[in-house]
Amino acid sequence: MTAANLIDRSERERIARHLAGSVSAPALVLDVGWVNGLGAVRSLARAGVRVLALDHRPSALGLRSRHALPVLCPDPNLEQERFATFLTELVELLPSPAPIFPTHDDGLAAVARAAGSLGGGLLYPFPDWQRLEPLQRKRFQLEHATEIGVAIPATRYPSSAAEARAAVEELGLPLLVKPSEPIGFRLAFQRQAFRCETLAELDDAYAKAEPFVPMLQEVVRGPDSALYTVGSYLDRNGEALGVFCGRKLRQTPPGVGTCRVGESLWLPDLVISSLELLRACEFVGLSQVELKRDERDGSYKLMEINPRLWQWHTLSDACGVNLPLIAYRDLTGDPPSPCTSEGARKRWAITLLAGERTVFPRPPYVEAVFSVRDPKPGLVHLARWGLKKLRALKRTKRSAS
Ligand SMILES: Nc1ncnc2c1ncn2[C@@H]1O[C@H](COP(=O)(O)OP(=O)(O)OP(=O)(O)O)[C@@H](O)[C@H]1O
Ligand SMILES: [Mg+2]
Repeated sequence: MTAANLIDRSERERIARHLAGSVSAPALVLDVGWVNGLGAVRSLARAGVRVLALDHRPSALGLRSRHALPVLCPDPNLEQERFATFLTELVELLPSPAPIFPTHDDGLAAVARAAGSLGGGLLYPFPDWQRLEPLQRKRFQLEHATEIGVAIPATRYPSSAAEARAAVEELGLPLLVKPSEPIGFRLAFQRQAFRCETLAELDDAYAKAEPFVPMLQEVVRGPDSALYTVGSYLDRNGEALGVFCGRKLRQTPPGVGTCRVGESLWLPDLVISSLELLRACEFVGLSQVELKRDERDGSYKLMEINPRLWQWHTLSDACGVNLPLIAYRDLTGDPPSPCTSEGARKRWAITLLAGERTVFPRPPYVEAVFSVRDPKPGLVHLARWGLKKLRALKRTKRSAS
């Protein structure tokens, strides 16, 4: 297949039919494999935006949503050139410039890199590549936080295994070995960091993480419910048009993981310092600033800035701050009045996860996958969960007999 026909005729016609008759710009959501992308599709479509859901995996959950046209694309991380060509072809089919919402780090980097060659065909809720590239590095974020007085976990940047061992003298154990550049690390190890309790574990973790610029970080003490999020959209002038504040109540896996249950909770000082940090980094667009409250001294220490929508952003929408829509409106020349989640008290949860206990928080709560209005992704998720459970049961029976 040549680069000229990545999108074939019947696909072009399907896209044209989906967009026909709409006067407003469509939106593209990239990477809809899980609740982040699925949530963005639903938040935009609920407001009447025509959405194209893009993913390279035919199995992606969000491709089942009735709220978007499913479109298969090349893998933004492993096929970067084909992905860029695909975007060039797609842009030609759009009736007007369309906001694009990458929902994971690799897709975000791929779109930002391709942006220069796409003319004005797409609109971006994130800074240009020159500013985004350093911002995707944790070291850059931590250094800016320190400059403006936001607390950070004690962190060292060893350049050899021996220096890593020496850093333990200062940081103590346990500690985390984290990549400063997380995209490749996540692909290689399907996790965000290694927690090390001993020097032997540190040696092993450092060796594995070495290609990804590892850093050593103290483990901030406290439960997972001490992980706070400030989610926002900043316009081109740095004005916050939408702000959410909340915290995780439970992560999976515990300790170093992703949100399983979260709640909204407004902490004004945290909102102020997070927005200040974003502005110090010259950030514009959608982001999550995550901080953990250290139970030893009550300080809030920066975990990271995610320069994109985060896993549980639909809780913000439930609190009246529909961040994808706010970004869409601002980018298409119809900026809404600023709003915040202050005063809203809601919860969010992923109830069913394969291999894990079912979690039902106290109702009412926002369910991440199941939706009466958009049932198919939930049914597919349920079927996959059931199949995995069945297989696990069979394995247990076999090993018992
Ligand atoms: N220094 C630390 N102390 C305690 N917990 C930490 C620390 N660093 C990271 N974590 C935990 O690990 C999680 C993931 O870490 P981090 O956000 O740095 O990785 P990531 O790969 O960028 O994750 P994401 O997929 O959310 O973008 C955090 O949400 C937090 O729960
Ligand atoms: Mg991150």
